[in-house]
Amino acid sequence: MALKIAVVGMGYVGLTTAVCLAKLGNDVVGVDKDARKVKMLKGGKLPIYEPGLYDLFRQVVNSEKLVFEESIPRAIENVGVIFICVGTPSLSDGTADLSQVEEVARTISENLDSYRLIVEKSTVPVNTAKWIRRTIELYSKGRSVEFDVASNPEFLREGRAVEDFFHPDRIVIGVDSERAKKLLLELYSPIDTKVLVVDIPTAELIKHASNSFLALKISFINMIADLCDKTGADVKMVADGMGLDKRIGRAFLDAGLGYGGSCFPKDTKALFRIGESYHLDFGLLKAVDVINQGRVERFIEKVKDALWVLKDKVIAVWGLSFKPDTDDIREAPSIRIVRRLLEEGASLRLFDPKAMENVKRVFPPSGRLLYVNDMYEAVDGANALLIVTEWNEFKTADLRKVASYMKTPVVVDGRNIFEPEEVKKHNIFYYSMGRGKSA
Ligand code: UDX
Repeated sequence: MALKIAVVGMGYVGLTTAVCLAKLGNDVVGVDKDARKVKMLKGGKLPIYEPGLYDLFRQVVNSEKLVFEESIPRAIENVGVIFICVGTPSLSDGTADLSQVEEVARTISENLDSYRLIVEKSTVPVNTAKWIRRTIELYSKGRSVEFDVASNPEFLREGRAVEDFFHPDRIVIGVDSERAKKLLLELYSPIDTKVLVVDIPTAELIKHASNSFLALKISFINMIADLCDKTGADVKMVADGMGLDKRIGRAFLDAGLGYGGSCFPKDTKALFRIGESYHLDFGLLKAVDVINQGRVERFIEKVKDALWVLKDKVIAVWGLSFKPDTDDIREAPSIRIVRRLLEEGASLRLFDPKAMENVKRVFPPSGRLLYVNDMYEAVDGANALLIVTEWNEFKTADLRKVASYMKTPVVVDGRNIFEPEEVKKHNIFYYSMGRGKSA
């Protein structure tokens, strides 16, 4: 049976969730306090790039299964389920900023006239649901309103969010009432996957623990990559050898510039702080973050190994988004790399298939900062080409053409997208991350 649902927060998670829930046949209201964003959505435009989302968005908007609102009170009037998908960014000390979650809980409370199921989908510290419950009780001003709070963490990867919504490895539902359990099981019944029903704190912790473990795998292989650079071993082959052990698995063992995005950096820091708040030794997660923070500096060292002096050199950069198939530059290594190279006095020619408009808002074009619309134009006259994001089109680049366009044939590969032997065939001086000293 179709449910009436409100989704609060039209970001990467909320918008994908709203569109996909509408595609499942539910009647969905997407809510955001950013009037500009709501106006854009009502105008049939997506404020984010996510493969496959636009087509679904058009379908569900045209069939009026998905509408948009600025006001939470109006949006929740006739719904049974409210998903909280607002941001939980890091505060300066790494703890999660839950002010947006609290604001939504307060507004819901002040407008609650009958039963609602409030579902936290945003990634939140364990036991946040207790605070949501308390906030709703506190602001209900003695009105006895029935409601439940549940945890339903998302495991969407940017660039694959639609795929991950309809074909997840698992759905996790944290509930403390039969009514909430029944509602969420019904909501997700069309999706063929393992549904794990647990208590609410367990569901909240599964999310933080999963993301932190994936980040740990990445920092582990980056730590090994640095040893490979010193010893001549090949980190890709080490990862292959490790990954053949089913207990380890090959995924998330790709060494390079490390993890960015709005999740891993935030979630590892938040979980570290949660452990510390209970006076537990979560130093392991501190090390994960420290290793990750060090990747850009390791990369700049390689650029200096390749070019010696960076001042007045022309450097091409392929890839600005934090990962392929997204326009998202949050915590992207490219931002720190561009800043460092400009500080060193280099001139940059930047190309990215999707993220350039977002980067221009951080680094406007200037005499030493050029945005180009073609990957080969970027290398024209360049002293070096840096691979920062592993977009597929870069992997199949015509290296003969690249070498012929460049002033000096130097490639510093931050994501190990090329095979050293292949590159060297074109007389290119090739540097990568963890595949022994190259040149
Ligand atoms: C992640 C989780 O995968 C997803 O389940 C969660 O819901 C949100 O956070 P996302 O951040 O979109 O998804 O991207 P993901 O593909 O997981 O990559 C995260 C970062 O790790 C990227 O910066 C990527 O470049 C980096 N990465 C990934 C590596 O450096 N090496 C790897 O082997 C894999």
